[in-house]
Amino acid sequence: MDQRDLERMLADLPLGQIRYFPKVGSTNDLASRFAQAGAPDLSLVVADEQIAGRGRLNRRWVTFPGAGLAFSLVLRPENLPIETSSRSDAWDRHTNLSRLTALGALSVCETLNEALPAMLPAQIKWPNDVIATRRKLAGVLVEINWSGDQMKSAILGVGVNVTPQAVPPENELDFPATCVEEVIGKTVDRWSLLHAMLNNLLEWRERLPTETFMHAWQGRLAFRGEWVQITTDSGAPAETIDELEGQVIGINPDGSLRLRLRTGEVTSLQFGEIRLRQIDRPSK
Ligand code: BTN
Repeated sequence: MDQRDLERMLADLPLGQIRYFPKVGSTNDLASRFAQAGAPDLSLVVADEQIAGRGRLNRRWVTFPGAGLAFSLVLRPENLPIETSSRSDAWDRHTNLSRLTALGALSVCETLNEALPAMLPAQIKWPNDVIATRRKLAGVLVEINWSGDQMKSAILGVGVNVTPQAVPPENELDFPATCVEEVIGKTVDRWSLLHAMLNNLLEWRERLPTETFMHAWQGRLAFRGEWVQITTDSGAPAETIDELEGQVIGINPDGSLRLRLRTGEVTSLQFGEIRLRQIDRPSK
């Protein structure tokens, strides 16, 4: 792949400027700089290898050459059919972040589900991971550049493990991982996958504020009805880490996760410094 081939391959999609790099630190960083320099809506940064990629909660995300997909899209607020001012009562920063994160995760799920048996769906592990066979194969990192209450641009970054070489060693994982080829059971062309994901993303972006979007998001939510443990990690000393167990009910329109606690009380958790893992049953 090179700049010219990528442009040719994506020519039928209404993207902004396209940048291909054989090796980068983080495509989100480059896309952010690109956005600050005035890159138009839907400009795209793609890298074959990423050596300083990151995920939520400052986790490392490495992309080995030839093994995965690492790309970041510049989204401009004037082209987003949602409220992008955080002054509004109905929409705040969390809502923007979770809708756009869901946009990325849903597009990855829908693309993979075209190739997966219905019994093995790709699902969204709230808030930003894509899992299949209960193992993670992709992650989404949205970073928003605000000017006061107004969104200037959002960078939607997606990392996908495509081949087995993309899967980090087990001792480096805090959630089990897999890759697209392992789940689908055959080799996959990374670039066709990229094209299909972008195509899905463009379609879902038009439907961001709709019931259809909400319904698709809920439908892809992993662990519904199951027990999960939520860890709230503020990054502060260990004593301040809270643990909560509950049954996953669904997602609220603002993107928060609805959980039923052991007491029967229903609570909503905001997208934030939160980790989620499935557990067999509530501990005593
Ligand atoms: C996560 O697992 O928390 C999200 C991982 C997101 C990784 C992608 S790869 C492309 C883009 N560039 C980055 O530095 N991160 C995202």
